Formats: sequence, structure tokens, C-alpha cells
Amino acid sequence: MANSDIIGAGQDTARRAPKKILDACCGGRMFWWNKSNPDVWFTDCRSVPKGAFANNWNPNWCVTPDEIVDFRNMPYQSNSFNMVVFDPPHLTSGSMKSVINKKYGLLNKQTWKQDVVDGFTECWRVLAVHGVLIFKWNEANIKAKELIREFPVEPLFGDFTGKTGATIWMTFFKTEESPVLGEESPAQNTVEICHTAPNSGRDAMPLTLWNDDK
Ligand SMILES: C[S@@+](CC[C@H](N)C(=O)[O-])C[C@H]1O[C@@H](n2cnc3c(N)ncnc32)[C@H](O)[C@@H]1O
Repeated sequence: MANSDIIGAGQDTARRAPKKILDACCGGRMFWWNKSNPDVWFTDCRSVPKGAFANNWNPNWCVTPDEIVDFRNMPYQSNSFNMVVFDPPHLTSGSMKSVINKKYGLLNKQTWKQDVVDGFTECWRVLAVHGVLIFKWNEANIKAKELIREFPVEPLFGDFTGKTGATIWMTFFKTEESPVLGEESPAQNTVEICHTAPNSGRDAMPLTLWNDDK
């Protein structure tokens, strides 16, 4: 089956891409030059109003996605966005009272790897042929290599940045020959690609996101 033959994971319900670019977990849109870029569809699994931090610190930070979406199970057709940006939470420990975890979310200690791999796989599914996927990761808790070997495709290139050199930005490119839904990945064969159809009955997100009791 060619990439261009795919209609969508949930063929009855999947929608066309609303914009050319998808930010699959936009958070506070901090790395965007234009936080209201009209070409970008911003999604996240939560909304957070302004004023989340004590003493009016960072008063304008907020999470206001265009749509609430779980990146492991997206309602969009396959091959529909020209670019997808994927910057999931990267920490598995700490308190949700800390500023960094409030801003970025925490991974679930038990399911983090499957959650991120599922998210990447969905980003790959909705990415158009000849589209670019940007994946950002920080190695504070987990080495990037541990994840990349589980992804259905390998990056074109990537490099470390940031004050501590622990943040890596990676670039992936989808071709006609890239792995597609329902077919085994020729690269690593470790991820089943077609498993996140909308309304598949999966449990709600297990990720810890915004819980002041923790
Ligand atoms: C590292 S932050 C993104 C920061 C963002 N790139 C920025 O520039 O501000 C990760 C985001 O992933 C979101 N997230 C966590 N689990 C998610 C899921 N299952 N589906 C969608 N978004 C999720 C969190 O709510 C959080 O806002």
C-alpha cells in the first residue's frame, strides 16, 4: 500500500488537517516566534488560564490550544499536515508544584515510553508525504537514544542545544517509501503503527499533567 492510499486511522471520523502545521502538544507556545501563527493548529491535552504561578510570575503564560487532543490518538486523517512539531513532556520525576513540571507536564513513571512512542507514531501517521516532523527532547531523565530506537523511523539529523547541552532537536522526513499504517516498519519493527484509531476505547491519558496534590 502506498502512503497516498491512506485515508485515516479512523476512516469514519478522521478529519482533514485544519491547518498546514500541527503542534501536537503546544503547552504555552514558548518556542514559537509568532504564538498566533495562522498556519499552525495548536493542540494539547489541557487548557490552563493565565495566572497559574505564584506572585504573578510569568503572568502571560497559559495553555490555550485550538483543540484539546491526546497526541496518542488524534482525530485527523493520515498524511494530512505538511509539518508536525512534537515536544512532549520529558521528566518522570518531581512535583507538579514545581514551575517546570507545571509548565511542561510530567510523564507517567510506568507508561512513559509507550506514551511517547504512541505520540510519535500518531504524529508520523498524520504527517503528509514529503512532510517534516520536528521532535524535541531533553535528556534530564531519559536518554534520547532510548526512545529513538523504538520509533518507526530514524531521524535525518539532530543535535544537542541548550544551556546544559541536554536538549536535542531532531528532524524526520516522510517519503513515499516511509513506513505506513498497517505495514511493518522496515527499520526496526518494534512499534505496531496502526493502534491508535480514534474512539478505539483506550483509557484516558495516564500522563500526570496538572495536579497540585502531587
Ligand atoms: C514540553 S511541554 C510543550 C512546551 C511547548 N513546546 C512550548 O513551547 O511551550 C509538553 C506539553 O505536552 C502536553 N501533553 C502531555 N501529554 C499529552 C498528551 N497525551 N496529549 C497531548 N498533549 C500532551 C502537556 O500538557 C504539555 O503542555
